Amino acid sequence: MKRIAVLTSGGDAPGMNAALRAVTRCGIARGWEVFGVHQGYAGLISGDFRPLTARSVGGIIQLGGTILGSARSPEFKTEEGRMKALWELGQQEIEAVVIIGGNGSQAGASALSKMGFPVVGVASTIDNDLVGSDVTIGVDTALNIALEALDRLKTTASSHQRAFLLEVMGRNCGYLALEVGIAGGAEAIVIPEIKTEPEEIVQIFRHAYERGKTHACAVVAEGAAYNAAKLAAYFSEHQARIGYELRSTTLGHVQRGGAPTAYDRLLASRLGAGAVDVLASGEKGVLVGMIKGQVTTTSLDKVVGTQKPIDPALFQLARVLDT
Ligand code: F6P
Repeated sequence: MKRIAVLTSGGDAPGMNAALRAVTRCGIARGWEVFGVHQGYAGLISGDFRPLTARSVGGIIQLGGTILGSARSPEFKTEEGRMKALWELGQQEIEAVVIIGGNGSQAGASALSKMGFPVVGVASTIDNDLVGSDVTIGVDTALNIALEALDRLKTTASSHQRAFLLEVMGRNCGYLALEVGIAGGAEAIVIPEIKTEPEEIVQIFRHAYERGKTHACAVVAEGAAYNAAKLAAYFSEHQARIGYELRSTTLGHVQRGGAPTAYDRLLASRLGAGAVDVLASGEKGVLVGMIKGQVTTTSLDKVVGTQKPIDPALFQLARVLDT
């Protein structure tokens, strides 16, 4: 008999529940007992473990968020907090933990693994900044939400001959902004990975205005040196040169909410099942992700402290398509 625990940590991502369901049902199918840890690492420290059954994870595959709850736990970053978590795991006779989350969560997973506890991570964050997975759970849903927002902004922008800034999430990573910008036909994309001066955007907007475009939109990553607020401040002094009237929308947490897309449900199901297979094989201290369409493991050591780069060719493509 094997007793495992599973938790969701960091910013929630649509599809986390599907991953939780897969871990639980695949674990039970192997004859294991599965426990859900509530509120991420905080629950690991306080010992908030509750048994999961095939039925208790029923009806959740279509739900956004996480039924286990999530948190960012400063206490787990301390040696004392991690020792407490280890003690609680011992008390519950848990033999391994599956950690569903993004960069910060996998850093916690790595720390636990280095203390000798068997851990497997599952790549889940809307930012898609994790090394070890071409695509992470939640990205597809967040992309589609942001894309719908951009489509909607373009219609009202056209009616009023306006230029819009749409700021999307992503922390220090420009993936969401880049993909949304291309898929939505934005006139400009501003991301942290590629230096862009505000004057370049003024010129792009002006050029669009002179060509008779009824609107111009820039998708801006929140982590860019010039985010939407800073760009808007610059533009306010150059309105006459731009031509269009200007408006700005920050999408924020809307991108993390709502039902996961089919893609995210399938990805989460495969990665959750993959985590159980990995544990059954005896492998540990790894992140389970999707690379070239295959469920793949990468050492947590290689995942932590690095950020997946964006594809510069995509940025160039956006420049050509935006003309
Ligand atoms: O990592 C996911 C994410 O949504 C980032 O895109 C964003 O910067 C951050 O979390 C927001 O964090 P919080 O939910 O704590 O405000």
